[in-house]
Amino acid sequence: MALLYKADPERGRHWQALFARHAPDIEFRQWPDMGNPAEIRYLLAWQPPENLTGCLPALDVLFATSAGVDQFDFSELPDTLSVVRMLDPAIEHGMIEYATFATLWLHRRIGDYARQQREGHWQAHMLRPASEKRIGVLGLGQLGTAIATHLVSYGFPVSGWARTMRDVPGITCHAGQEALDDFLASSDMLICVLPLTGDTRGILNTALFERLPEGAGLINIGRGEHLIEADLTRALDEGRLSGAVLDVLRNEPPPRDHPFWRDERILMTPHIAAMTQPETAFPVLLDNLRRHQRGEPMIGQVDRQRGY
Ligand code: GLV
Repeated sequence: MALLYKADPERGRHWQALFARHAPDIEFRQWPDMGNPAEIRYLLAWQPPENLTGCLPALDVLFATSAGVDQFDFSELPDTLSVVRMLDPAIEHGMIEYATFATLWLHRRIGDYARQQREGHWQAHMLRPASEKRIGVLGLGQLGTAIATHLVSYGFPVSGWARTMRDVPGITCHAGQEALDDFLASSDMLICVLPLTGDTRGILNTALFERLPEGAGLINIGRGEHLIEADLTRALDEGRLSGAVLDVLRNEPPPRDHPFWRDERILMTPHIAAMTQPETAFPVLLDNLRRHQRGEPMIGQVDRQRGY
């Protein structure tokens, strides 16, 4: 029985060594050297190969190397194929770290100070205490909950929004469309960590920005397609938003002439908030492989109707 790996080749070598050492019964193959496709029961991938069903006829489980699974077109996958998202603790850790960094970067106006340094200009701005800066986490799944809980420890009042009601100690939780207005009106800093689905595509748009308090900050660590990029520029121009940190863009990388490259109100990073680490992800994957072999439910299995 074989597993085909199709993601970053450098990390592939680590995965290979881990399989050889701890699960020698599962043959590890690295794309594009897939050998006999009829032997491949598992695919571990960031981007799926084209014509996945045609090229891997015996596939049982598609394991994403990522927490998000929007890169897969579920309508093209056979109904019998299970899809499992990556629950590597290193992803949660990375997301907490990045969200904290981005929140503090905006809160402490580090972008303004970096510009002032370039201009040779020494000037302090009033500091609003964390207790007066309300954070709103849009998406209270596993990652959103971890981020929200962590940010409370800095003294920020934190609320969160999800489709269905959550109970997270220390966090004011809102649920459903009818609660979105209240949630947005109390978010001086909005952190998007939603999954990308038909319902959430383009959710960060003018209509939403208008419901935030004047001068709010935006952090997008969900997916680039959550954001209508021209609407962000407009909101910044009008002072509706004061700044943004984006780790994800609609096109990665954005084209050379994209206005965000030159916009000092926006900090852009190349989709690096979190990265799956073979060392911590391997035990999670192996546990799921063994569960599948025993006919038990796997952890992180995606509800294909819901899309996450
Ligand atoms: C990265 O974007 C992930 O979904 O893990």
